[in-house]
Amino acid sequence: MKTNILVIGGTGKTGRRVVEQLQNKGIEPRIGSRNASPSFDWDNKDTWVNALQGIEKMYVTYYPDLAVPGAKEAIQSLTYLAKELGVKKMVLLSGKGETEAEACENIVMDSGIDYTIVRASWFNQNWSESFFLEPILSGEVALPMSDVLIPFVDANDIAEVAATVLIDDSYNGEIIEVTGPELITFKQIVDIISKASDRRLNFYEITLEQYVDGMKQMQIPNDVVWLIEYLFSHVLTNPKNQLVVSDIERVLGRKAKPFMEYAIETAKTGIWNQISVI
Ligand SMILES: NC(=O)c1ccc[n+]([C@@H]2O[C@H](COP(=O)([O-])OP(=O)(O)OC[C@H]3O[C@@H](n4cnc5c(N)ncnc54)[C@H](OP(=O)(O)O)[C@@H]3O)[C@@H](O)[C@H]2O)c1
Repeated sequence: MKTNILVIGGTGKTGRRVVEQLQNKGIEPRIGSRNASPSFDWDNKDTWVNALQGIEKMYVTYYPDLAVPGAKEAIQSLTYLAKELGVKKMVLLSGKGETEAEACENIVMDSGIDYTIVRASWFNQNWSESFFLEPILSGEVALPMSDVLIPFVDANDIAEVAATVLIDDSYNGEIIEVTGPELITFKQIVDIISKASDRRLNFYEITLEQYVDGMKQMQIPNDVVWLIEYLFSHVLTNPKNQLVVSDIERVLGRKAKPFMEYAIETAKTGIWNQISVI
């Protein structure tokens, strides 16, 4: 069944899983991405009207992160346009303990459009689909803050919550905090991935300064380096983030997925046994 639901970032870590969740319920959402038709490009507002035309509800993931300069203005403009075009509800993916993300949440919450905020801690999938994958593939994982406790959450859980609150209007006006079921450190994670994938992984504790220098030497783009440094220095260390919240269980009626379960499932795909490209 074709519907009037738009999933912005519908090919990304959470968005593609939200699309799958909706498809499993017989709903065919419109995908918002630069490669979709009609296309949606955060950097080209001319694409926004076609992508939002006729849409009633939308799931919004901002790329790369709500913390980057320009995100707030983009969310402001998108929300304004959504209201003008008659969008009834927005579900915004936000980040726990991020001041900039909270500013974006406020824009949506004050817009007069129905909303649910899905506020997430760091994703498990950062280790298999994002910036922590490459160190795992190289076998040498050097990270700062190795003992900070983080409630890593699974993108499948986030997507199931997002799809549920998109459809079920009883969650309108709520902030749903999605975390994993346990607090876990980088050191423990590397150990779990090593055992699950049956690979030797060396872990080194380094300073944030060394980590940033390393990224620069690898010629990682400056804006990405800035974002990762910001996430480590402001988000990871924020005490508000070092808490397990039970909202996943409240919405889905089951416990959130433990990191170990994600690691075992992901190891079976073979992604951690590929050859490093660097
Ligand atoms: N990773 C974490 O641990 C974490 C934790 C909490 C919150 N968050 C939040 O999660 C959000 C990202 O969500 P996600 O991880 O599900 O998505 P993602 O995987 O980072 O995003 C990829 C998606 O964005 C699209 N995209 C990339 N550039 C685009 C552009 N210029 N215009 C339009 N679409 C573009 C991609 O499609 P195309 O390439 O086809 O355009 C793809 O669909 C961020 O706002 C971040 O603040 C992340």
